[in-house]
Amino acid sequence: MGYLGTIGSFGDVAAEDDDAVLSYFLKTEAVDRIESGDCYAVIGRKGSGKTALTKYFSQPRKEYVTTAPSLRDYPWNLHARRKNIGASEIESYVSAWRYLIAVKAISVILEQRSMSTMTDSQRAAREFLNENYGGIVPSLSDILSPPRWRVGKTIFSPQAFGVAVGSIEFESENGSISPEIDTLTNILLRTAVTIANQAGLKKVCIHFDELDQGLSQLDESRKQMIIGLILAIRSIRGRKEGDIIYPVCYVRTDIWDELRFSDKNKVSQSSAVYLEWDQNSLLEMVDERIRVKLGKGFSWNDIEDEALMRGSQSKWSHIVSRTFMRPRDVIQFLNFATQKALKELPDADGFDNNDIQAAREPYSRYLKQELDDEIGPHWAKWGDALQACSELATITFTREAFSSAVTKSVFSRVCQRLQG
Ligand SMILES: Nc1ncnc2c1ncn2[C@@H]1O[C@H](COP(=O)(O)OP(=O)(O)OP(=O)(O)O)[C@@H](O)[C@H]1O
Ligand SMILES: [Mg+2]
Repeated sequence: MGYLGTIGSFGDVAAEDDDAVLSYFLKTEAVDRIESGDCYAVIGRKGSGKTALTKYFSQPRKEYVTTAPSLRDYPWNLHARRKNIGASEIESYVSAWRYLIAVKAISVILEQRSMSTMTDSQRAAREFLNENYGGIVPSLSDILSPPRWRVGKTIFSPQAFGVAVGSIEFESENGSISPEIDTLTNILLRTAVTIANQAGLKKVCIHFDELDQGLSQLDESRKQMIIGLILAIRSIRGRKEGDIIYPVCYVRTDIWDELRFSDKNKVSQSSAVYLEWDQNSLLEMVDERIRVKLGKGFSWNDIEDEALMRGSQSKWSHIVSRTFMRPRDVIQFLNFATQKALKELPDADGFDNNDIQAAREPYSRYLKQELDDEIGPHWAKWGDALQACSELATITFTREAFSSAVTKSVFSRVCQRLQG
């Protein structure tokens, strides 16, 4: 079998579907910045490597516990009800997220570090989770679901709440989340730090990815909930407990751009890392995959015939200039090129210009779909504008020419629908 047959595929285009991703994971600068606690917001376009990072950070470590709970089936509608009506719109979801992070923190410590001798704080934390969630590892979807908390009086002193009862309603009478949640959260955070110290843990990391799952439209309420998570993380990181409890959120660039809150610029400047790639880092990412599949001494140069493409462009430049500098685009392009090459010559060792050329058509279809996911939630009819650009077929055009091309495209879409 030739080199390309041995490679077979450059990997799945979504990190969550690629079981081998950690075997060829490239440690970029972002890894160190997240690990050092330098930043808590990771911002990147679709396919730039957010999920790959959370997979990397989900690996068990000796000195700390880490988890990347899935937000795939997260009940956003339930979360929307856990609003603090007394707070400003922007702050209204902060309390619910802080509580969720605190619960997740104690849960992950107890789950990943079973303790032989139980201290009072460990017993308290365990009892709180068992009483409210029927176990010590509630799913993310369950954390905000109980209508009330049961707070054992031997555990969290009821005086802390100014009441001598064993349970507190999640919702107050006006439908708002109960103001007592903040007191409870502070107690839980302190408990998390105590039990982390007792277990000899330096950090408790919680990575929130896939905030955009199932998002066909970015409405105000979802925006506020995402802002709420960022502010909740910031508030925890800004406290003493933030030295140990490290929540991090991963946000798609297009969504981040739509969020409005007063300290956004501050967060962008000092606490965010942007996932950006260039020709060289993308090549390193591909070389790493080639090395894992073919052997240590191999790299990109060994799997292409070095003939230049039209315009004296190297194959690599030709490929990369058709991507948005995102690993997913490059991997998808190479997978299509591999399929084409193997179809032509089952024992091919490398790509020729025809393979790269032939990959462009299926790659374009992929890219359109990828952009649909990114642009659709903000601009449902962006396809008309794309169609108009295609009609105009020039890089520069007047506003009038564009308007009339859009009108034509809308008209033809409506006609097609009527005919259909
Ligand atoms: N550091 C890396 N090392 C190796 N491969 C990477 C790295 N970062 C990303 N990739 C690869 O790039 C592709 C896209 O990455 P990933 O699925 O993590 O993107 P994403 O930012 O989560 O996208 P989306 O917003 O659509 O969820 C995957 O195939 C992944 O394996
Ligand atoms: Mg992802």
